[in-house]
Amino acid sequence: MPPPKPALDRLLRAAAEVRGNAYAPYSGFQVGAAVLAGGRVFAACNVENSSFPLGVCAERNAVAMAVAAGEQRIEAAAVVGGGVRPAAPCGGCRQVLAEFAPPEAPVLYATATGVPVATTIGALLPSAFGPADLRAGDQGSTGRLQRRKRRGAAPSPGKRRSAARVRASRTSGR
Ligand code: THU
Repeated sequence: MPPPKPALDRLLRAAAEVRGNAYAPYSGFQVGAAVLAGGRVFAACNVENSSFPLGVCAERNAVAMAVAAGEQRIEAAAVVGGGVRPAAPCGGCRQVLAEFAPPEAPVLYATATGVPVATTIGALLPSAFGPADLRAGDQGSTGRLQRRKRRGAAPSPGKRRSAARVRASRTSGR
C-alpha cells in the first residue's frame, strides 16, 4: 500500500523547505529531497564542492540520512528542484533510491510552486540492477574467494602468494 496523500504532501513540503539550505554555488541549481522511511521523513539538499565531481545530489544525501538512522526501506521520495519545469531525479539517484525502495514506491518531483509529477521508482528505473542480481550473479574468481573465506578456508593455492613474492613484486612492479 502506498503511503497516504497527507504523508506524501508532508514529504514534498520537507523537500521544498530543505532546498533552501542547498549549497549550490557552482551550478546555482538548488535541490531538496525527502524520503519516507519507517514512518519518518529524512530531508536533505544538494551539497556541491569546489572539486566539482565531489558534489552530492539531494536525493543521495537524504537516502544516506535514512540509512544512518537505521532505516533501509524507503516508502516514498519527493524532490523539489528546477525553475520552470520540475527536475526528475538523475540516473545515479534513481539507482540509489532503487537500492532501498520497492518499484511501486511513489516518487513525486516538483518545482517550488508547481503541480508535482507523480511516478514510481520502477517507472523511473525499469529493469533496475539490484542486490538480487549480485546474489544470483556470475561470481568469478573474486566471488569464489569470498565464498572460501566465508567457509573459513584458506585461499586456493593458485591465488596465494608468499610474503617474499609480494615484496618482490612491489619493488619490481610485477
Ligand atoms: N542534483 C540533485 O541534487 N539531484 C538530482 O537528481 C539532479 C541534480 C544537483 C546536483 C548539482 O548540485 C546540481 O543539482 C546541478 O546538477
